[in-house]
Amino acid sequence: MISSIYISQAVGEPSEDDLFDLLEQCRRNNVKKGLTGMLMYGGGTYLQCLEGEAADVDELLKTIDADPRHTAVKILRRVPIAARQFTDWSMGFEHVTEKSFEESAGLRKLGLSSYNPEYLENNPEMVDTLLRWATRTKI
Ligand SMILES: Cc1cc2nc3c(=O)[nH]c(=O)nc-3n(C[C@H](O)[C@H](O)[C@H](O)COP(=O)(O)O)c2cc1C
Repeated sequence: MISSIYISQAVGEPSEDDLFDLLEQCRRNNVKKGLTGMLMYGGGTYLQCLEGEAADVDELLKTIDADPRHTAVKILRRVPIAARQFTDWSMGFEHVTEKSFEESAGLRKLGLSSYNPEYLENNPEMVDTLLRWATRTKI
């Protein structure tokens, strides 16, 4: 199994409905392939972690890369894993907002403005923190 994490930039501003539809699509497909992970969106930036068999993850990433709903897909990490981090989520979702950052003691100082590709690319520990934080809501 592998875990792969990428960031990308939304094309246009997705509405709540757009995000809901995307999430439904993710869940429907990922369940079939035994893929799990977490998707985060905020301020035009997507951050996604995908876990599963290497061939399935890599194939999906090719599809995702070509998706016109976003651009500038950049893989930050692709590592073998012995166990999943997101066992309970065919695709978890976190809509990152100023408010959600405010409510977290660990993220407050950082602010939503740091949730951007450049920062995430240069701060891998922040990526891990965010992904762990996202699991708290259990959706
Ligand atoms: C940010 C983002 C994340 C996505 N994540 C997934 C995913 O986890 N699983 C998935 O099947 N499709 C995901 N997609 C959608 C794929 O690009 C593609 O539209 C979809 O897999 C095609 O599914 P279909 O064959 O059911 O139409 C994502 C798209 C975007 C823009």
